Amino acid sequence: MSTAVAKIELPLKLFKSGKVREIYELDSERLLLVASDRISAFDYVMPQPIPLKGVILTKISRFWFERLKDVPNHIISFSCDEIPQLAKFKNLLKDRVMVVRKSKVIPFEFIIRGYLFGSLYETYEKNCHTPIEPSSPEAEWIKDLPKGLKKGEELKKPAFTPTTKADKGHDLPCTVSDIEKSVGLKTAKFVIENSLKIYSEAREIAFKRGLVLADTKLEWGISDSKTIIIDELLTPDSSRYWDVKQYKSGVLEQFDKQIVRDWLLKSGWDRKSSPPELPADIIEQTQARYIELLERLTGEKI
Ligand SMILES: Nc1ncnc2c1ncn2[C@@H]1O[C@H](COP(=O)(O)OP(=O)(O)OP(=O)(O)O)[C@@H](O)[C@H]1O
Ligand SMILES: [Mg+2]
Repeated sequence: MSTAVAKIELPLKLFKSGKVREIYELDSERLLLVASDRISAFDYVMPQPIPLKGVILTKISRFWFERLKDVPNHIISFSCDEIPQLAKFKNLLKDRVMVVRKSKVIPFEFIIRGYLFGSLYETYEKNCHTPIEPSSPEAEWIKDLPKGLKKGEELKKPAFTPTTKADKGHDLPCTVSDIEKSVGLKTAKFVIENSLKIYSEAREIAFKRGLVLADTKLEWGISDSKTIIIDELLTPDSSRYWDVKQYKSGVLEQFDKQIVRDWLLKSGWDRKSSPPELPADIIEQTQARYIELLERLTGEKI
């Protein structure tokens, strides 16, 4: 296993330190996004990284950004070789960077789901027992869903289940009208339609590779008065992938941090204090899932 990269410190102006990425400002128009191997679960960054995770996420994002070019995105390049201050960090940064257009982030998470799972399933299930307040955002999420759907079932039409993008704390469910009020009718229509388009196109491509793309989260920003996709694209950190054969036999195991989440739930951690150290086999199994997804999706060996 190669050495994991948990901490990244570059001689550039730090713009933001995310849970997974360090973001530097190259100039007034460009940012450098560097993906570390950090892994977060339940909104906490785990004490140990997963070796190569940042490389895998960047390669998967690149695969999708290059295939889904019809929709405008923030990518300028996947290399920082031309930045003189970074010459001595070349090995560390290889396949971990995205040079992107600095954007004003639209403060919502654009979540599209093709299957009844995760928080959509929880909402649907809850509504079966105690009807959800009709004016709540979750009521809008489930309003078109017929009765009697099972967990993991494919939806007739993908569902749009947006949330706010909170700086601190949890993201909260919201409605289309919240987005319209924030960015205006025209931009809201554009981002919602294109989020659905990206999901549908990616889902078909993934399916041909034996993968079910159950759902995804997109982020959008505005740069130079153009609305563009920002952040990562269709990575296992932002999307749920299942194996088609397993799916058909009723097993819904994700190609992502599910192994870490399951272990944390069993560990007795209270989800308030610092998270516990992950055992070596949990780190290895998680890495293996990320590698398998990269290889199956892109055909690329790491
Ligand atoms: N083109 C862009 N312009 C401005 N900000 C961007 C751009 N692309 C991505 N970002 C922001 O960079 C951050 C990515 O870092 P990372 O994935 O580590 O964050 P996160 O921990 O997932 O999210 P957050 O810090 O928002 O909770 C996100 O906050 C994202 O909104
Ligand atoms: Mg992120």
